[in-house]
Amino acid sequence: AKRKIFLGIETSCDDTAVALIDATEKSVLKHCIHQQIEHQAFGGVVPDLASKGHAKHLPTLLNTLLRSACIDKEEIQGIGVTAGPGLAGGLLVGVMFAKGVAITLKKPLWAINHLQAHALVARLCYDVQFPYLALLFSGGHCEFVVVYSATEFYLLGYGLDDAAGECLDKVGRRLGFSFPAGAAIEVAAKMGDPFSVALPIPMRDKSLNFSFSGLKSAALRWINSEGEKTLSFEKKANLCASLQYAIGQGIQKKIENFFENLPPESNPHTAIFCGGVAANQYLRQVLEASFLRHNVRFLTPPPKFCTDNGMMIAWNAYEKCQAGVPPSMNFSIRARW
Ligand code: KG4
Ligand code: ZN
Repeated sequence: AKRKIFLGIETSCDDTAVALIDATEKSVLKHCIHQQIEHQAFGGVVPDLASKGHAKHLPTLLNTLLRSACIDKEEIQGIGVTAGPGLAGGLLVGVMFAKGVAITLKKPLWAINHLQAHALVARLCYDVQFPYLALLFSGGHCEFVVVYSATEFYLLGYGLDDAAGECLDKVGRRLGFSFPAGAAIEVAAKMGDPFSVALPIPMRDKSLNFSFSGLKSAALRWINSEGEKTLSFEKKANLCASLQYAIGQGIQKKIENFFENLPPESNPHTAIFCGGVAANQYLRQVLEASFLRHNVRFLTPPPKFCTDNGMMIAWNAYEKCQAGVPPSMNFSIRARW
């Protein structure tokens, strides 16, 4: 059978990522990612540095990808590129580049929404039918969303201020961890006591919205009161464990809210945990326990599909193609999509 190969290009934040997938086999032929470490010194993503980095690395990265994937370019059926949301400069670089590649290779191009791609990639990894529930936690977004199809999403709840990843990154920065700090916090937390630092459980109201800025401030206040310069590793580990615990409890509360308002017969069959924060094994277990209690299948893509990657963009292009969404060369970036 003819392979359905799709190319994905992602430049919405600080990672330059490209990937080739075979959508028929649901397999990844090859993916390449360049993580921009130049932001570490600034403790956050510097937009101008990010777009320069993407412009510098994208051509070489795509060359490496095409050479090492051992495919005939003719086999590529379509291209996806992140058009938003994200940092405008990086998005522009990616979209311009993708349009150039689409013209050169004479392939159809789809503009991809980064958040939809996070929520859909579970279907590349597993056998998941629509509709399903997705809990999306990244560096910039928290969303509780029903995925009805590749093109229809219903937002049940969203982040009102700092996202969960942002909270981890900002606390991690003050602990001296390099950016982004989520993975380092997870490692440190393994050696800490989750009940040692009393932190507020975020947003314990009845809604499905999220807010992590209060938790972030409480953690930063604790660091201040302990003395940032003299914190022992043990104390840092305790804070990390307590922070992860509070985030887990906050999300669990929202999951309980969701089920409280739902007649049991209308349970979703599957819930997906996605976005960069879903790479966290501890939070996976916490969320899994919640959903299994309600007899809902719970899945999380492997970590490399959770943090920003080209596979999810390629997969979303395939999903759009399958859903009959016409390709287009005539679109602009949407930084706040
Ligand atoms: O989806 P993503 O890669 O980029 C955005 O779209 O924002 O998410 C990045 C976020 C960062 O805040 C990072 O600290 C967090 O995901 N993250 C983690 C882990 N790995 C990445 N958070 C907790 N545990 C991890 N293992
Ligand atoms: Zn992302």
